[in-house]
Amino acid sequence: MARRAGRICLDGLLIEYDALLAGAVFIARQACSNGHVKKKRGTDMIVAANWKMNPALDQAAVLATALASQPFSEIKRILFVPHPYLVPMSVRLTGAPLKIGGQDCHFADHGAYTGDVSAGMLCDCGASTVLLGHSERRSAHGESSDLVAQKISAALAQNLDVVLCVGETKAERDDKKAEQVVIDQLQASIPDNTPPTRLTIAYEPVWAIGTGAVASPDDIGAMHHIIASVLSERFGANALPPILYGGSVNAENAGSIFAVPLVGGALVGGASLDADAFAAICTAAQLASRNAG
Ligand code: 13P
Repeated sequence: MARRAGRICLDGLLIEYDALLAGAVFIARQACSNGHVKKKRGTDMIVAANWKMNPALDQAAVLATALASQPFSEIKRILFVPHPYLVPMSVRLTGAPLKIGGQDCHFADHGAYTGDVSAGMLCDCGASTVLLGHSERRSAHGESSDLVAQKISAALAQNLDVVLCVGETKAERDDKKAEQVVIDQLQASIPDNTPPTRLTIAYEPVWAIGTGAVASPDDIGAMHHIIASVLSERFGANALPPILYGGSVNAENAGSIFAVPLVGGALVGGASLDADAFAAICTAAQLASRNAG
């Protein structure tokens, strides 16, 4: 592969790339021009809440009840709740059109791993999905992409769906390494034999998480094209997993984020703790689905 920098225009988005990315960008361009890489729309739009280590249990119960009463039939909603809340939230949301997920799992089925939780335990407590590779796990717990891959294998073995987070730090973006970091994370974190139907990717630039500094639509679009090209290479252009954006998504900016090509939904942190704000984001996702349909 030639070692040259360059830029291309995809769907009106200008993407700058260095030589290492040339192959991936080429695949994305081919797929787009052939009409194979399309935004996941309609029932495929996903709005996922990552509650992180929030809120108190009584507030969580109020929040879950409010979310359950909101009618969003045209999108998928997922709640990633703290592990001790899996059972009470599953009970409270019985019959509601929301999936419940854990925020991490161990790669082993059982054993002497104090404080850890296995994928099977998540299932036993009502989870149908799990969030893995979040930047707060990668940074605060030193989780490598190799470890994330082991966790994904464990989750898939228990029939859990997986939302895999990837994203670059501010320093990596400033060093113009953002695309390569994300490509490396994808390639190392997704195990062989992963069924694409069980996987969702969340692109979460670390510098946008909890800062209010949401990535621009151009930056989101460019990275989603890169991610789509990597996934297309792995799974085929017709079997792309959904690609979400996460990082300071709120009621005000959700509509413009969902209008970006290839954005298939959002992974929402802070705003997911407010039922009205989360509902507004879900409304924007539903509108985007209809407009695209
Ligand atoms: P914020 O929406 O608070 O920026 O958090 C994003 C996030 O980390 C979701 O996983």
